[in-house]
Amino acid sequence: MQADPTPRTSAQDTNAPPGAPPAPSRARDRMLAAWLWHGYVRRYLPLLVLAIILMAVDGAMMGLFSLLVQPMFDDVLVQGNADALVWVALAVAGVFVVRALTALTHKPLMTYLSESVIGRMQERLLAHLMRLDQGFFHRHAPGVLIDRVRGDTQGLGMIFTGILPALARDLISVIALLGVALWIDWVWTLIAVIGTPLLVLPILALQRVVRRVGTRAREASAEASNRLDEIFHGVYTIQRNGLEQLEGTRFHASVARFIAASVRTKLGQSGMNALADLVGALGFSLVLIYGGGQIIDGSRSVGEFMSFFTAFALMFEPLRRLSGLTGSWQAVLASLERVHALLQVPVAILQPAPPHAPLPEPGRSDIRFDAVNFAYERDPVLRDFSFIAPEGQTTALVGPSGAGKSTVFTLLTRLADPQSGGITIGGHDIRQMDLAGLRGLFSVVAQDSALFDETLRDNILLGAEGVSDARLREALDAAHVDEFLPLLPHGLDTRVGPRGSALSGGQRQRVAIARALLRDAPILLLDEATSALDARSEALVQAALDRLSTGRTTLVIAHRLSTVRRAAKIVVMDKGQLVEEGDHATLIARGGVYAHLHGLQFQGTTES
Ligand SMILES: Nc1ncnc2c1ncn2[C@@H]1O[C@H](COP(=O)(O)OP(=O)(O)OP(=O)(O)O)[C@@H](O)[C@H]1O
Ligand SMILES: [Mg+2]
Repeated sequence: MQADPTPRTSAQDTNAPPGAPPAPSRARDRMLAAWLWHGYVRRYLPLLVLAIILMAVDGAMMGLFSLLVQPMFDDVLVQGNADALVWVALAVAGVFVVRALTALTHKPLMTYLSESVIGRMQERLLAHLMRLDQGFFHRHAPGVLIDRVRGDTQGLGMIFTGILPALARDLISVIALLGVALWIDWVWTLIAVIGTPLLVLPILALQRVVRRVGTRAREASAEASNRLDEIFHGVYTIQRNGLEQLEGTRFHASVARFIAASVRTKLGQSGMNALADLVGALGFSLVLIYGGGQIIDGSRSVGEFMSFFTAFALMFEPLRRLSGLTGSWQAVLASLERVHALLQVPVAILQPAPPHAPLPEPGRSDIRFDAVNFAYERDPVLRDFSFIAPEGQTTALVGPSGAGKSTVFTLLTRLADPQSGGITIGGHDIRQMDLAGLRGLFSVVAQDSALFDETLRDNILLGAEGVSDARLREALDAAHVDEFLPLLPHGLDTRVGPRGSALSGGQRQRVAIARALLRDAPILLLDEATSALDARSEALVQAALDRLSTGRTTLVIAHRLSTVRRAAKIVVMDKGQLVEEGDHATLIARGGVYAHLHGLQFQGTTES
């Protein structure tokens, strides 16, 4: 697959929702619902059915209760029937015991279902995101992605805590209560619901509003998360430059946008509830006028009216929740849409279909770039770039900052693929090799090696198993980690802080070198590996790296030319192109770019 060639403007896109979802439509909503059901919910079907039955029983109890109101009034209170007193009291108690028991079980059950579905979705999202390429992470800031993975999936919980209970419990409640009302007097019932058709159009309109502002609220939330992420990563820069107030203001702006959108979402949802209330009140007043007259003239009993009234009054709360249902569903769909869009972002770096090209045999890991063209966005980073790094020897890449040197490592380890041209190792196209196998060929000391907030030991082993203590010691010695190890409070078990912030730059670099020494892979990639070390440590660590690189195909990037002069081959790059190549002596004799750079670095020294 090719890397995404579409030109994008990074500044705008960083905060845009990853993978812009297409416009909502009914078919699309159905697709999203089906996707949610088949991928995430169906596996819990038995539990779901159980919870729904419990909720339905819970809901039906309210109908039973309103039914009991009639004998309570007519037999007990009006006629003074003592036998009825006992059974009615027992029946009412029974209704509430059943309610209590069902609620006790279906609520935790729904929480379990909700969190399980959310957790599974988060895991899948993370698994997908971890396969995406550099270009994607350049376009989408970590803070936004964190908010997508955490916040948007949390929004789905509404299905289990709001929508399904409304459908199962509240709908059954309403049906039971409506049944009771109809049974008592169908004319009263018809009068009571007379205003319902008035609700349809306004609710449909509100629904659309809620969906739109709901999306805006989620976007504002992602933006606020991203601001926090950027602030905490750059907090020292903020402090040194006195940017606290500026950052505070910017954060405030995102929060204000979030508040505005959230309030509007709630307004839309409450609007639906309020409409339902108003229509209910209208119906009830009409029944009171009509039914009240019938009681006064004796054609209806007080118990009947009270029973009807109870059923009707009890219907309000579940009806209100049911009328909020479409609003909640719209909010869920908005979240679902963004999660789905993120999962649809194509994986640019694909594991090739088998049969895979063989991984290079020992002694055949020569690297070859053949007319490689590569761009992250519009501007080409590598242009028709060809070079050969011979097996078992050290090849140095030198050139000005931004020339594309680190990008060579990016392409070699397939964090991105070139738009055209070929890269081979041992004569085989790296795009045909098993991806994990390919990446296993390299020990890398990157320019900005990431340390994780774990112990020093975990940071060096990076998941490698069965490493003997002796080998670990050896790597620690060679990388001169042992020099600062005694200074750490818990030695190898000291946590290195977020991104290794508890260590100095040079210490972090030595940890990265120890990693590479331990990994012991056939190809060594060193990107400014010793740039942060003092002169003495550099000389010592360099000696260890020289030992490691002996007999291995090695690519070295270094600005300090003293580090590269012994390389078998030096490739000089500028603006993504190869400008000259050869060994140190040849290049000096040639008097070109390299000789010039060399002259600049060693001016006034006795070195040649
Ligand atoms: N993730 C990225 N997204 C977009 N552009 C990038 C990305 N990484 C690097 N670039 C661009 O690619 C070009 C080459 O970058 P590269 O890191 O390869 O340079 P370099 O030769 O290693 O420089 P230095 O010596 O400063 O490390 C630069 O112009 C840089 O702006
Ligand atoms: Mg670089």
